[in-house]
Amino acid sequence: MTPAQPAGRAVVYHEHGGTEVLQFAERPVQAPGADEVVVRFAAGGLNPVDAKLRAGRSRMRLPLPVWVGREFSGVIEQRGSDVADFAVGDAVFGSIPQGAFADYVVAPATVIARVPEGVSLEVAAGLALAGQTAWDALESQQLRAGDVIVVSAAAGGVGGMLGQLAVARGIRVIGTASESNHAWLRSRGIEPVPYGTGLTERLASAAPDGVRAAFDQHGPETIEAALALGVPPERINTIATDATVYGVRNVGRGAVHPPTLDALAALVADGTLDVPIAASFPLSEVRAAFEFLEAGHLRGKVVLTAD
Ligand SMILES: NC(=O)c1ccc[n+]([C@@H]2O[C@H](COP(=O)([O-])OP(=O)(O)OC[C@H]3O[C@@H](n4cnc5c(N)ncnc54)[C@H](OP(=O)(O)O)[C@@H]3O)[C@@H](O)[C@H]2O)c1
Repeated sequence: MTPAQPAGRAVVYHEHGGTEVLQFAERPVQAPGADEVVVRFAAGGLNPVDAKLRAGRSRMRLPLPVWVGREFSGVIEQRGSDVADFAVGDAVFGSIPQGAFADYVVAPATVIARVPEGVSLEVAAGLALAGQTAWDALESQQLRAGDVIVVSAAAGGVGGMLGQLAVARGIRVIGTASESNHAWLRSRGIEPVPYGTGLTERLASAAPDGVRAAFDQHGPETIEAALALGVPPERINTIATDATVYGVRNVGRGAVHPPTLDALAALVADGTLDVPIAASFPLSEVRAAFEFLEAGHLRGKVVLTAD
């Protein structure tokens, strides 16, 4: 007789709105398909897109009800018959379109990677969406050592990793952040400047010979400053605002790419990439976790952990 599938809680909403629409539902865990794994949730990374979708403010539309959460880490409890690269008991991390904030996560084996020794499950939970976005955006500009770039929201989930990935390639990184994050940015080899009024002048003075590329993670201000400094639109990338308004690029994360996840995790393990945990909440406090994220000022990632 096939053993009964376990049941578990999952975070869901049935209508768009604030954090009050987030609820827990008990649901049986589906048996993994041939190419899938069932992962016992250890941690989940929150992303602004989760909040935008919930509020009905995303251009992306998911039919209701929406099962919340994209990034996760945990331990494989079951695997499908065709899954050869992973075993029950492996600690893995990955990203799925929805449903990652649940006691059990069902995911294709093509969107996960192993958590290497030296990387915590909390940190791994923030790599598959924010980390790969940073990687893909940086790759799209084909920069060289010695180039000077501007990264906005440079202490945030994506910006924090993008800046460090660039530093590791010998690129000079000027990062915008509020004062409370400046010491951390310096400690990672990034030159901090405050965002806000006068940004163009501050960037001009920090990079008198010009800026090769700009990566925006927060909105128009950085794009406008980069254009004012003469950065060509094709060397400006935004993931936070409508790129067509400015004619700039909008390379975000492509399809989940496990070799990139492996590379990111290896960089965390060897200390090249520091991913601070801005705050950690138990899964049962998912509303508080989103309230923290949506307050907008943090360093690194906000994560949920198994209760
Ligand atoms: N297209 C894609 O593939 C993709 C993927 C991931 C994310 N995104 C989008 O990219 C954006 C960033 O995501 P994220 O996860 O990095 O966000 P996040 O971690 O929540 O960003 C937080 C950071 O924003 C900074 N910030 C707040 N106000 C700012 C301002 N006025 N100017 C500059 N920075 C400011 C904060 O800096 P201080 O704390 O220093 O104030 C904080 O470090 C979001 O809009 C998200 O939806 C797109």
